[in-house]
This record gives sequence, structure tokens and C-alpha cells, in this order.
Amino acid sequence: MISLNKPSLFKNSNFYAGEWRTFSKTIPVFDPSNGEKIGEIPDLPREEVRKALEFAAKAQKEWAKTIPKQRARFLRNWADLMILHKEDLAKIMTLEQGKPLAESRGEIDYAASYLEWFSEEAKRAYGDLIPTHRKEVRLMAWKEPVGVAGILTPWNFPSSMITRKIGPALAAGCVVVSKPSELTPYSAIALAVLAEEAGIPAGVFQVVTGQPEPIAEEFLENKIVRKISFTGSTRVGKILLERSAKQVKRVSLELGGNAPFIVFADANIKEAIRGAIASKFRNAGQTCVCTNRFLVEEKIAEEFAHGLSEEVSRFKVGNGFVEGVNIGPLIHSAAIKKVDAHVKDALDKGGKLLVGGKPHSLGGNFFEPTVITNVSERSQCFQEETFGPLAPIRSFKTEEEALTIANSSDVGLASYLYTSDPARIWRVSEALEAGMVSVNEGILSTEQVPFGGVKESGLGREGSKYGIEEYQEIKYVCWGGQN
Ligand code: SIN
Repeated sequence: MISLNKPSLFKNSNFYAGEWRTFSKTIPVFDPSNGEKIGEIPDLPREEVRKALEFAAKAQKEWAKTIPKQRARFLRNWADLMILHKEDLAKIMTLEQGKPLAESRGEIDYAASYLEWFSEEAKRAYGDLIPTHRKEVRLMAWKEPVGVAGILTPWNFPSSMITRKIGPALAAGCVVVSKPSELTPYSAIALAVLAEEAGIPAGVFQVVTGQPEPIAEEFLENKIVRKISFTGSTRVGKILLERSAKQVKRVSLELGGNAPFIVFADANIKEAIRGAIASKFRNAGQTCVCTNRFLVEEKIAEEFAHGLSEEVSRFKVGNGFVEGVNIGPLIHSAAIKKVDAHVKDALDKGGKLLVGGKPHSLGGNFFEPTVITNVSERSQCFQEETFGPLAPIRSFKTEEEALTIANSSDVGLASYLYTSDPARIWRVSEALEAGMVSVNEGILSTEQVPFGGVKESGLGREGSKYGIEEYQEIKYVCWGGQN
């Protein structure tokens, strides 16, 4: 186990219905780097989730009455506490998720930045005074909170995917019941410890852990929940969307991607390789915005593939706590099986292996960072997200061909483009069917920008000045008798 400066951040209990609670039924949680059990968390049935929602409904009334500046102060205190306890929070994250400690530290900064950003946005939720259509009436529109939000978050970013939702929710005046992934619940529980310490009233941020189905069922069927926000697979997102229709709940979805990374011959190849590494191998390839398909102009395809392979062959794979490790374990054995299957399929369909290609000799959930060139478009790794450290490369001859392949997907989250031609930057950025385009840069995420996708990659945007709108209703007021 790990040693923490503030051991109380690591808890096997949940914070809901006004107190820290354990439950008779539990779920074991494992360290993905060695399979050792790190603790057991409550496996809550629907009745317990209902208690949290009923408590949330009461908290909602009070929280909605707070003035934005108060909410801003709470959020800012919370962000500051995250930074104060960054090292402990990062250790908890590496323990349960596996990512290298340096990446966990980065994620804590990233997660806190959403609380900080929305503490500022809370104060800027302006309405409108609308030019009237009749002398005796005045027209206005203002923003109100949607109400209680049920949020469901994934294991790949156990802290930032939560704060990216609760920041805007709390800023808008909504309260949140949060269900973290049962694979990585401790980062969420630690956030609840700090929320309490930041003075955030009980009921404003509650954490409930357990199997996804009963918790999601309660969120979907209980009328207290007016908003569902989910980050995860497109398959589950579609179910949530369909089921939310019954009560016309507001829904935000941040779903899967299949990001193309297009490199034109006029690009700075060294920079493109640097960007490729950042975009593909962050969190061992387990991010929704990770490059999934490399498309490289034929003239430079070999140079790019060999340059990338050379860098990848230098990666150090291992336990995220070990100094110098830059690729941690995958989350579980099913993830290893998927990457392995994608590699075999790409090779069967004519791909040429340049580096890696199999489960790592460390065993368990470790996979060798892999580069395959000459990959067919029909390969599984070009059709769906691999969510692992596999970089498949295919060459193209024309801009049109690159765009056709890039857009031949049902999803459209992130996309990447490397070129030195300004006209092409405009043209290709406009033509790419994606919510986000990163030009000559491998990392696009930050709290100031609208994060989200088009097509089956989701609905709504998180972060930025737009993120708060997902948690706001607009109320129009017509005021007569103004002679
Ligand atoms: C994700 O994988 O869904 C989030 C990645 C990010 O915020 O950069």
C-alpha cells in the first residue's frame, strides 16, 4: 500500500445522506499493476442510492438559493485543497488506475483547474434584458439550475472527469450525486473528503459506489434526477439517452472517439512524432481523445513510422510508482485481450510490425507499446477504439483521400492535423467531422476549451464558457403593467 500525508483521504466508505457510510455488501478494488486488492467499497443497492437522491433534493433547494459568489468561494476552496493535497491524491490515483505518478500529478492539476475555472464562471452566468415588443411590458431571460444531477464517470481519468462535471454543475446551482467507476472509486471518495473540508454543505456533492446498473437505474427512474451526465462508451451512452427520454431528463454525453492523426508531407516531422507520442501514449493509450488512426502522406510515411518506432522502443513500461516509467498497466485483463486482438487482426490484414506487438514480459496488465505500419482500413483498430498502446499507421496519397478515411467513422471526438500550409489548416479543420481539431499539437485538453464530440461521440460540451450551460435552464419572464 501507499503512505499518505493525510491518510483520511483514503476511505472505504461513501459520503451520502449527510454522513460517511459503509454498507454490508462490498466490491473489492484491485491495483491494476499487480492485481493486489487495495480495499473494498460499498456495493449500494437502489434503496441506498434513493436515500442519496432524496437528500440531494433537499440540498438542491438551499444550494440554488446561494449567491454565485458564495458558490464560487466553495469551489475555489475545494480546488485549493486539491492542490494542497496533490501528492496524496496522485498516489491514490496511481494505485487504483495505474498511470505513472507524473501523469497522476498532472491529472490532479487538470482536475482542480475545472473547479477553479467554474468558480470564476459561476459569477458570469448572465441573463438578458430583451428589447420589448409592447410599451407596457418588459422582457427578460435569466439562468436557473437544472436541478439534481446524477453523474457517471469512467476509470481512465478518475478525478478530472468528475470535476469537469461537478465544477459547472455546482457553479450553476445544481447539486450532484456522483457514481465513479467501481474500478477507480478512491479518487472520487478523496474528492468528497476535501469537499467536506472546503465547507461545501452535505448533499451538494455525494458519492455513491457500486455496480453501474442499479445506480444508473435509480438515476434514470427517479424523478429527482433532472440531469444525467456521462463519460464512457458510446454503447452505454445510447442506452442512457434512450432511457432518459422517458422523463425528458437533460443529458450530456462524452463518448468514444476514433481520432485520426493526419500528417502531411509539408509538416515538421520531428514535431509530428513528438505530438504523436503525446496524443497516442498518454495514459497508455486509454483516453477518448487518443489518436486511434495515423494517416501519413505516402512520401514521408516510412520516415514517420521509423522515427515514431525509435521513440516508442525507448519507453519504460512498469508500475506507475517506479521512477522513469512512462507506460503503466492497462486497467484489466479484458483491455489486454482487446489490444492483443487488434494487433493480431492488423497483422493478419497485411500490417507490418515495427515495434512491440504482444503482452509485456512483466505479465499481468502490461502490454508492449506497439507500432504497426501498412495497416488496412478494414482492420479492427481502424474501425473502433483500441484504448491501448497501439499506434497503427496507414499512408495516403491525397488530401481528399486522407479526409475520406478520417471521416469514415460513426464517431467524431478529437482529430489531429500536422501541416505547415495555412490554407490547408483552414480547409482540413473545416472538413474534419470532429468536435475538436488539434493543429500541430498533440495535447488539446484544458479547462478553457469546449470539450466534446459530434456524431456518436456525444452531446454537449464540457469545460470553457459553454460548459455551465449544460446545467442551466433559461427562464423567460414577461413583466406587464409598465406604463
Ligand atoms: C477522456 O479520455 O475522456 C478525457 C481525456 C481528456 O480530458 O483529455
